[in-house]
Amino acid sequence: FHVDWDLETAEKAGFDHFMLKEIYEQPKAYRNTMMGRITDDGKSVVLKEIGMTAEQIRGIRKVHIVACGTAFHAGLVGKSVIENLARIPVETDVASEYRYRSPIITPDTLVIVVSQSGETADTLAALREAKRCGARVLAITNVVGSSVAREADDVMITQAGPEIAVASTKAYTSQLIAFYLLGLFLADTIGTRDAAYVSEVVAAMGELPEQVERILEHAEVLKQVAESLSKHNNLFFIGRGVDFAVAQEGSLKLKEISYIHSEAYAAGELKHGTLALIEEGIPVISVITQEDLYEKTLSNIKEVKARGAHVLALVNEGQEEEVGKSVDELFAIPKTLPLLAPALSVVPLQLIAYFASLARGNDVDKPRNLAKSVTVE
Ligand code: G6P
Repeated sequence: FHVDWDLETAEKAGFDHFMLKEIYEQPKAYRNTMMGRITDDGKSVVLKEIGMTAEQIRGIRKVHIVACGTAFHAGLVGKSVIENLARIPVETDVASEYRYRSPIITPDTLVIVVSQSGETADTLAALREAKRCGARVLAITNVVGSSVAREADDVMITQAGPEIAVASTKAYTSQLIAFYLLGLFLADTIGTRDAAYVSEVVAAMGELPEQVERILEHAEVLKQVAESLSKHNNLFFIGRGVDFAVAQEGSLKLKEISYIHSEAYAAGELKHGTLALIEEGIPVISVITQEDLYEKTLSNIKEVKARGAHVLALVNEGQEEEVGKSVDELFAIPKTLPLLAPALSVVPLQLIAYFASLARGNDVDKPRNLAKSVTVE
């Protein structure tokens, strides 16, 4: 009696690739990252791992978020979250640029480094520079005991579990959850948001895992979308605000594993140059979840449609009919608070990248030229 068995197949737990397994593990990663960080009454956030006193937190004058790759994209959402909730000015930098622009780092700056592995050389170097300048450093990382975790003053561990696929999925979304928790914690401590608001956001966060599960049930639709996209060599992602941040992550995911060239553009900036590249049949993926920006993005969609683009829109449930009039294809995501939408809207984009890579016959988990962890500068 002989059973074919290998460790890798066993670790994939029935999924064809680690990336797909990790996409499906996101509801669990969200729950685990929130676990122990929400009070028993479900109304506020406790971050025991943050050693700063309330007085120190109230003394933070600015925040710098520094990271590479996908973690940088989480930092773009993190900027919106902290500015919106805690009203502290935030700058987000790519770690390989940060040190070389003489950033103004003062002792009242909170520097947040974001790194799945905790070993990225540029991120670690940025952390050291921040400490040298006397700033307090908070690390958001997925690996306990990593270099970044050891050297930072405070550490928030994302409970995504090990991520094997080079293209990051559950680590990114767990970083978003960490930013939501942190933003609420800062807001609560500083007093920029009242208890009722905080509890409303916490309640909405509690619904995210089940909402992701609902998106995953529609993977087949996204597979079809991806298969037709896979025949193109160029496409665009557009969005405004946090939708733009998600568009950038969606574009990176697609490039990394499908090798299809794409560009993410702030929807309102298209007309300042990029519109020249819109021609008949070019796919444009539009993320349109932010109610206050809704009309504006819709008018940008009309601009590309008028030039022959084939538009796929990611919209909130309930807005299908209105947006449907202006686009070719729609995918609806469950309704949440505008600030939390990235934790949902990125999931269809991850699946599109996965299925496009598959359709092109690529090595999904180990894309060419890329490494999971980059330990050289
Ligand atoms: C590499 C990986 C990316 C990742 C980046 C930062 O380039 O291929 O997926 O986003 O490093 O990694 P980190 O471990 O610091 O989050």
